[in-house]
Amino acid sequence: MQQENAGPGHGLALFMRRWASNPYRIGGILPSARPLARVMAGAGVQARRGEGPVVELGAGTGTITRALIENGVGERELVLIERDRQMCRWLTQRFPRAAVVRDEAARLGMILAREGAGAASVVISSLPLRNMGMQERESIVEASLDAVPEGGALVQYTYARHPAVPCARLGLECRRVGFVAMNVPPAGVWRITRSGAASRLAAAASSRPGPGGSNG
Ligand SMILES: C[S@@+](CC[C@H](N)C(=O)[O-])C[C@H]1O[C@@H](n2cnc3c(N)ncnc32)[C@H](O)[C@@H]1O
Repeated sequence: MQQENAGPGHGLALFMRRWASNPYRIGGILPSARPLARVMAGAGVQARRGEGPVVELGAGTGTITRALIENGVGERELVLIERDRQMCRWLTQRFPRAAVVRDEAARLGMILAREGAGAASVVISSLPLRNMGMQERESIVEASLDAVPEGGALVQYTYARHPAVPCARLGLECRRVGFVAMNVPPAGVWRITRSGAASRLAAAASSRPGPGGSNG
């Protein structure tokens, strides 16, 4: 199947070069096809809570970023986090008004603090979570849900039938909100939120003063 986004203006050559240099970390051999990017962007926009920025983890060559903008997200509202230097350069050229941050997704809390961005309204990820150890996956999911207001979501696609983390054990609600057959490989889109009880616990923990807090 030919991906709909397979033109030179969409960074295909760069994406494939970077995949060849580190297939494990890049994940897919091709960028997301347009149908998947549209479903991801639609689910992301629908899941927004509050006025905060839209965070994209593993923005790559910006296929989903472009779909987000087409779905009404302002370029200035975007925080694009990507670990690959060459892709960051590409993203900066394509989306000059977005905040492009070359860093690790698990450091999301620190990144938002450093950017002075406050809480995100949603986190959208195409990270290859299944290529990572469980601890890294879980810390990325936790960091994402810590970054959004109560009820906020992480939107993530996977190539497998199941989400990439053990949702029940982590107190998460993982709902498949889309499936895109017109992608190589076909992908499911997941909306991941904290379940009611887990969310209340997290809110209580964050409002509790720490050891040096005002009640200390
Ligand atoms: C499957 S590609 C998706 C690219 C693009 N969003 C798309 O859908 O076409 C995954 C991207 O995540 C990046 N990535 C992998 N691990 C990362 C991490 N821990 N932190 C930030 N970016 C990461 C890779 O460099 C790669 O660009």
